[in-house]
Formats: sequence, C-alpha cells, structure tokens
Amino acid sequence: MKPSDRQSAQVLIREILISAGILLILWVCMPAEGRCGDIYDQDIKPLSTIECARCHYPVFLSLKNHGGKHRQKCGECHETYHNFRRGLKWEDRVPACTRCHDTPHGDSPEMKACLKCHENAHAPVYSIKLSTIEPLCGKCHAKPAEQLSKYPSAHSDLSCTDCHHDRHGVIPKCTECHEEPHSKFVDNAHCTRCHPVHMPTNLNYGPHIPNDACADCHNEQFTMLKNGILAHSEMKCVTCHSDEHGNVPSCEDCHGKPHTEEMLKDHKACSDCHGDVHDLKPVK
Ligand code: HEC
Ligand code: HEC
Ligand code: HEC
Ligand code: HEC
Ligand code: HEC
Ligand code: HEC
Ligand code: HEC
Ligand code: HEC
Ligand code: HEC
Ligand code: HEC
Ligand code: HEC
Ligand code: HEC
Repeated sequence: MKPSDRQSAQVLIREILISAGILLILWVCMPAEGRCGDIYDQDIKPLSTIECARCHYPVFLSLKNHGGKHRQKCGECHETYHNFRRGLKWEDRVPACTRCHDTPHGDSPEMKACLKCHENAHAPVYSIKLSTIEPLCGKCHAKPAEQLSKYPSAHSDLSCTDCHHDRHGVIPKCTECHEEPHSKFVDNAHCTRCHPVHMPTNLNYGPHIPNDACADCHNEQFTMLKNGILAHSEMKCVTCHSDEHGNVPSCEDCHGKPHTEEMLKDHKACSDCHGDVHDLKPVK
C-alpha cells in the first residue's frame, strides 16, 4: 500500500470510529422511553419512604423525632395519596384513625375527635397539649379524680396539672413541694406506702409497711423493739397496730387469758411483770 493510501484509510477508520462514538453518545443520552419502544410498557416502583420524605421533610422529621409507634413506612398508612380529584374532601384524601384503631377512649363525641388532642398524626403522643386535655383528666382517669373529691385533703385543693405539669403523664416527686417531709425522702414509692397521693390523709395502712417507716415518728418504740430479746422483737409494728394508724391492741386479743385471776389480782397491768410490750423482760 502506498503511504498516501494508508493515510486515507486511517482517516476513514477514524471517521467511522468518531461517528459510532457520536451515535453511542446520542443513544445513551436519549430518554429511556424513546430507547425502549412503548414508554407505558414498564413497571413503576412505588415511592420509598425516603423519596416521600424528600418532598415532605417536615413530616419525616415529626416521625423521626416524635413519631413513637407511628414510625412506620409512609405507605403503611397512606395507601393512596396525592388524591387531587375534584370534589374529594380532606378526609377522603388522608387515612382515618379508625382504619387501624377503635375508639380507645370511649364513644362520646369529645373522645371521637381524635385529632383535637392528637394534633399531629405523625407525632400522635408528643403533640397532645396539656391545655387541651386539662378539663378532661377525670374522664379518662376516674379513680384519682374520685379519690381527691371523696377524701378531702390539702391535695384536693390543687388541680391535676399543679402536680402533673408540663406534659401529659409527668409524675412529680413529693419533694418538689414538701421540702422536709417527716421522713427521709428516698422516692415516691416510700411515701406512698403510707400516703396514697390522691388521698394522702387516708393512710394506706397495712402489712406492707416495714418497722423503720414508723421509726421516723416513734423512734422510742422502734428502738426498744429492735433491741428486745423476747418474741415480740421479731414482730412487725403493723401486726399489733393493725388496720388503722393509732390502733392499740390489748394483750388478750392474742394471748387470751394466760394466767389465773388469782395470779393477777395484785397487779395493775401485765407490764408489772413483763415490762413494756415493746421490750419484754424475762420473768423469774
Ligand atoms: C415531588 C415531591 C413529592 C413527593 C415525592 C411526594 N409528595 Fe406528597 N405532596 C406533594 C405536594 C406538592 C403536595 C401538595 C401540598 C399541598 O397541598 O400543600 C403533596 C400532598 C400530599 C398529601 C396531602 C394531600 C393528599 O391528597 O394526599 C399527602 C398525604 C402526601 N402528599 C403524601 C405523600 C406520600 C405518602 C408520598 C410518598 C409515597 C409523597 N407524598 C411523595 C409533593 C410530593
Ligand atoms: C401511622 C400512620 C401514618 C404514617 C406512618 C404516615 N402518615 Fe401521613 N398522615 C397520616 C394521617 C392520619 C394523616 C391525616 C392527618 C390530618 O388530617 O391532619 C396524615 C397526613 C399527611 C399529610 C398531610 C398533612 C400534613 O401533615 O402535611 C402528609 C403530607 C403526609 N401525611 C405525609 C406522610 C409522609 C411523607 C409519611 C412518611 C414519611 C407519612 N405521612 C407517614 C397518617 C400517617
Ligand atoms: C394504618 C394504620 C394506622 C393509622 C391510620 C393510625 N394509626 Fe395510630 N397506630 C398504628 C399502630 C400499628 C400503632 C402501634 C400500636 C401498638 O404497638 O400498640 C399505633 C399507635 C398509636 C398511638 C400510640 C403511639 C405511641 O407511640 O405509643 C397513638 C396515640 C395513635 N396510634 C393515634 C392515632 C391517631 C390519632 C390516628 C389518626 C390521626 C392514628 N393513630 C392513625 C396504626 C395506625
Ligand atoms: C380528649 C383528648 C383525646 C382524644 C379526643 C383522643 N385521644 Fe387518644 N389519647 C389521649 C391521651 C392523653 C392519651 C395518652 C397518651 C400517653 O400515653 O401519654 C391517648 C392515647 C391514645 C392511644 C395509645 C394508648 C391506648 O389507650 O391505646 C391511642 C391508640 C389513641 N389515643 C388513639 C386515639 C384515637 C383513635 C382517637 C379518636 C377515636 C383518640 N385517641 C382520641 C387523648 C385523646
Ligand atoms: C383521652 C384520655 C386521657 C385524658 C383526657 C388524660 N389522660 Fe392521662 N393517660 C391516658 C392514657 C391512655 C395513659 C397511658 C396509660 C398507661 O400507660 O397505662 C395516661 C397516662 C397518664 C399518667 C401516667 C401514668 C403512669 O403510670 O405513668 C398520668 C400521671 C396521667 N395520665 C395524668 C393525666 C392528667 C393529669 C390528665 C389531665 C391533664 C390526663 N392524664 C388526661 C389517657 C388520658
Ligand atoms: C399533689 C399532687 C397530685 C395531684 C393534685 C394529682 N396527682 Fe396524680 N399523681 C401524683 C403522684 C405523685 C403520682 C404518682 C403516685 C405513685 O407513684 O404511686 C400520681 C399518679 C397519677 C396517675 C397514675 C397512677 C394512678 O393512680 O392511676 C394518674 C393517672 C394520675 N395521677 C392522675 C391524676 C388526676 C386525673 C388528677 C386530678 C383529678 C391528679 N392525678 C391529681 C400527684 C398528684
Ligand atoms: C405540686 C405540689 C405537691 C406535690 C408534688 C405533693 N404535694 Fe403533698 N401537699 C401539697 C400542699 C400545697 C399541701 C398543703 C400544705 C402542706 O401541708 O405543705 C400538701 C399536703 C400534704 C399532706 C397533708 C394533707 C392534709 O390534708 O393535711 C400530705 C400527707 C402530703 N401532702 C403528702 C404528699 C406526698 C406523699 C406526696 C408525693 C407522693 C406529695 N404530697 C406531693 C403539695 C404537693
Ligand atoms: C409509715 C407511714 C408513713 C410514711 C412512710 C410517710 N408518712 Fe407522712 N405521715 C404519716 C402519718 C401517720 C402522718 C400524720 C401525723 C400526724 O397525725 O401528725 C403523716 C403526715 C404527713 C404530712 C402532713 C404533716 C406534716 O408533717 O407536715 C406530710 C406533708 C407527709 N406526711 C408527707 C410525707 C412524705 C413526703 C413522705 C415520704 C418522704 C411520707 N410522708 C412518708 C405516715 C407516713
Ligand atoms: C409522721 C409521723 C408518724 C408516723 C410516720 C407514724 N406515726 Fe403513729 N402517731 C403519730 C402521731 C403524731 C400520733 C399521735 C396523734 C394521734 O393520736 O393521732 C401517733 C399515734 C400513734 C399510736 C397511738 C398512740 C396512743 O397513745 O394512742 C400508735 C399505736 C401509732 N401511732 C403507731 C404507729 C405505727 C405502728 C406507725 C408505722 C406503721 C406509725 N405510728 C407511723 C405520728 C406518726
Ligand atoms: C406485740 C404487739 C406490738 C408490737 C409488735 C408493737 N406494739 Fe406498739 N403497742 C402495743 C401495745 C399492746 C401497746 C399499748 C401498751 C400499753 O398500753 O401499755 C402499744 C403502744 C404503742 C404506742 C403508744 C405509746 C406507748 O408506748 O404506749 C406507740 C406509739 C406504739 N405502740 C408504736 C409502736 C411501733 C412504732 C412499733 C414497731 C416499732 C410497735 N408499736 C410494735 C403492742 C405492740
Ligand atoms: C398481735 C398479737 C399480740 C399482742 C397484741 C400481744 N402479743 Fe405477746 N406475743 C405474741 C406472739 C405472736 C408471741 C410469740 C409467740 C407466742 O409465744 O405466742 C408473743 C409472746 C409473748 C410473750 C412471751 C415472750 C417470749 O419470748 O417468751 C409474752 C410474755 C407476751 N407475749 C406478753 C404480751 C403482753 C403482756 C401483751 C400486751 C401488753 C402482748 N403480749 C400483746 C403476739 C401478741
Ligand atoms: C405476777 C406477774 C405476772 C403478771 C401480772 C402477768 N404475767 Fe404473764 N407470765 C408471768 C410468769 C411468771 C410467766 C411464766 C414465765 C415464762 O414462761 O417466761 C408468764 C408467762 C406469760 C406468757 C408466756 C406463756 C407461754 O406459754 O410461754 C404470756 C403470753 C403472758 N405471760 C402474758 C401475760 C399477760 C397478757 C398478762 C396481763 C394480762 C400477764 N402475762 C401478766 C408473770 C406474770
């Protein structure tokens, strides 16, 4: 081959390669629908939660930060969305709470207006405002309301939200208001062993109260009993002082008549021979 022929062959090959390249680029750049024939002959994958979130970022943030048990995929609730057909009401466009829930707080009209309290469907608990539910505490919590009114105490003069403040469900410590209770504050549970908080003067007196709880006010008896050497020292205060604070039993309640009249006739009390009931002494 002559050098000039070789040169023109190389030029030809180069031009063919360039044209093929351009065609390839054109093909690649062409919209997919054009490339594949019928554009409707393909499947569309549903939008993922992340894809919804790109446009509905505030909704995503609500769910992310405060969604609680509603932190589900968008599609779990929004089976259909972007329903902009003419004539549709809002309720037809978004899921109804009752699709998944019954009416958990009863069937009265005020309890069926879900979104009045659960203001944000994407943060259903977090969005409850205390001011909205304030007048309705007793409708859902009948027992505390009933106790406060049935057993008047200083707590009955407070409103529910004086104690349960800031957010629904907050439980205050007794020491928020009682700086120096008569006994050392450990936790609410210790105080409520005796004072049911919604009827604090109605002492919850019973076998669950340990002796050291009485010691705060009756240290003398507590110390005697603890240091005693006879059988009573093994007993609980509330076994003898049972049922109600201040009850005082008689020896006969438990011991019947252990001695003859004859033996007792010169003695005023059992303690003459046995010593203090909290600190029994051996008798010779
Ligand atoms: C490309 C952006 C975009 C994407 C992606 C998107 N949306 Fe929307 N969405 C909108 C716009 C715009 C509106 C109308 C907003 C308005 O009316 O204020 C809307 C309205 C809505 C509404 C209320 C009205 C109705 O009729 O549904 C819901 C519910 C909704 N979108 C859910 C979704 C869900 C679920 C997804 C994902 C599966 C999603 N959107 C994905 C932009 C988007
Ligand atoms: C547990 C169910 C549930 C999930 C999960 C859920 N939604 Fe909703 N969404 C609802 C309900 C119920 C409404 C109607 C609330 C109303 O009427 O105020 C709603 C309303 C909407 C609205 C219109 C009102 C608004 O707040 O802007 C948009 C937009 C929306 N959702 C988008 C989404 C997106 C995006 C996701 C996922 C990131 C999602 N939702 C996840 C139940 C859900
Ligand atoms: C598509 C179903 C669906 C819809 C619609 C729906 N929810 Fe739920 N919701 C659930 C599920 C599932 C749970 C979790 C239940 C569980 O684990 O006990 C839940 C839990 C809740 C909780 C407790 C949340 C928590 O974190 O403890 C509240 C409150 C609630 N939903 C209110 C609503 C309200 C109000 C609406 C309407 C605005 C609504 N839901 C709509 C499915 C739904
Ligand atoms: C008057 C206010 C109010 C209304 C109305 C209301 N809720 Fe509630 N709901 C609450 C409060 C307060 C809670 C307790 C939330 C918490 O755990 O702190 C609650 C809890 C829930 C729970 C979770 C606990 C449970 O009992 O299962 C669900 C689910 C729920 N609501 C669904 C609904 C639905 C559905 C409606 C409408 C039919 C509705 N709520 C109407 C105030 C309301
Ligand atoms: C619509 C019904 C409803 C209303 C109204 C309501 N609550 Fe509740 N509340 C609930 C539900 C449901 C729970 C969760 C119960 C559970 O987890 O056992 C709850 C939980 C609580 C708890 C926490 C209990 C615990 O053991 O941690 C307190 C405290 C409480 N509510 C006080 C209030 C006060 C105070 C009000 C009025 C400001 C109020 N609630 C109004 C339904 C309601
Ligand atoms: C003096 C403060 C105080 C007042 C007033 C008060 N509470 Fe409470 N409440 C508490 C404390 C403290 C607890 C926790 C008790 C415990 O740990 O046993 C509690 C517990 C609760 C609980 C959960 C345990 C239970 O007993 O069911 C509910 C519900 C509740 N309160 C509702 C109410 C309602 C409703 C009102 C008003 C009618 C109210 N409270 C008034 C301090 C108060
Ligand atoms: C939000 C404030 C507040 C909280 C929390 C609170 N109390 Fe009180 N309580 C008061 C006030 C105010 C009084 C009346 C004045 C006083 O005696 O200090 C009172 C009085 C009492 C009384 C005497 C009642 C009477 O009628 O003589 C007892 C007992 C009591 N509280 C126990 C408790 C216990 C136990 C707790 C925790 C479980 C508690 N309180 C939590 C505010 C509170
Ligand atoms: C062993 C039972 C018992 C326990 C536990 C107990 N208390 Fe008391 N508390 C009583 C008795 C009994 C009285 C009444 C004394 C009287 O009649 O003067 C009382 C009275 C009170 C009073 C009203 C009189 C006063 O001292 O101001 C308050 C307030 C009080 N207790 C708060 C508390 C707090 C807070 C706790 C937890 C740290 C607590 N109590 C633990 C039995 C108990
Ligand atoms: C907060 C302090 C306090 C606590 C705690 C307390 N008491 Fe008392 N107790 C008193 C006061 C004050 C009296 C005398 C006032 C009265 O008669 O009600 C009293 C009276 C009594 C009496 C009657 C005394 C008599 O002479 O009639 C007995 C018995 C008694 N308490 C036993 C107990 C027992 C048992 C406990 C523990 C379960 C206990 N107390 C816890 C303050 C307390
Ligand atoms: C075996 C039964 C028994 C036990 C256990 C007991 N007590 Fe007593 N307690 C009595 C009797 C009986 C009296 C009346 C004594 C009398 O009249 O001489 C009494 C009287 C009292 C009194 C009135 C004041 C006094 O000393 O007479 C107080 C306060 C008291 N007990 C507190 C307590 C405390 C606190 C405990 C626990 C640490 C306790 N008791 C354990 C039977 C018991
Ligand atoms: C709540 C019941 C109860 C009361 C009230 C009671 N005791 Fe006892 N006592 C017991 C028990 C239980 C024992 C040990 C078992 C037994 O010996 O029966 C005991 C034991 C004794 C013993 C023998 C102690 C020993 O270790 O050998 C004497 C003495 C005694 N009691 C005297 C009294 C006197 C005196 C009183 C009244 C001031 C009294 N008790 C009130 C329940 C009681
Ligand atoms: C004159 C002194 C005296 C008087 C008063 C007295 N006791 Fe005793 N008691 C004794 C003697 C002595 C014993 C036998 C010694 C022993 O077993 O420790 C005894 C034993 C007991 C026992 C133990 C019985 C046993 O089986 O172990 C009881 C319980 C008892 N006395 C209760 C009482 C009661 C209750 C009173 C008041 C009604 C009382 N005593 C009054 C002297 C007395």
